[in-house]
Amino acid sequence: MRISQKLEKKINEQITEELWSANLYLSMSFYMASQGYSGFAAWLKAQSIEETEHAHQFAEYLITRNGVALVDKLDVVPQGWGTVEEVFENVYKHECHVSEAINELMTLAIEEKDYASQDFLYTFVREQVEEESTSEELLTRIKQAGPHGLFYLDKHLVRAANA
Ligand SMILES: [Fe+2]
Ligand SMILES: [Fe+2]
Repeated sequence: MRISQKLEKKINEQITEELWSANLYLSMSFYMASQGYSGFAAWLKAQSIEETEHAHQFAEYLITRNGVALVDKLDVVPQGWGTVEEVFENVYKHECHVSEAINELMTLAIEEKDYASQDFLYTFVREQVEEESTSEELLTRIKQAGPHGLFYLDKHLVRAANA
């Protein structure tokens, strides 16, 4: 059964949201690299790639359900932040915002009794639990770190990215 036009529209909006997230993390990655934090930069670059992958997953699902997947215009992302803590404060906040968007999608799928979409969306409900938890944990470590700790945390993330 073809996906409803309402869900199709909302999933396309989610594709835009995921691609915007990819650009947001890329912008943060560039900023961290410019500040000399190559580990935080590598972590954010990996996140950016993951967000692009989410956009693909939504698009593939739409196409499988005979919908049309679109690449829409993206708003410009912020280009500068302050401290490392501020950057990761924003990562965590953004992930919470994305979780709300996924929940809204799920609400619509439930209203429409579209069980296939509900099943598909649960992957992202679980993914967001993971994303919120990972970014919150990193934020906590950054807050506890102090200048020296921050240096070592960054180096640790360089090694993790190269492993
Ligand atoms: Fe995502
Ligand atoms: Fe994410």
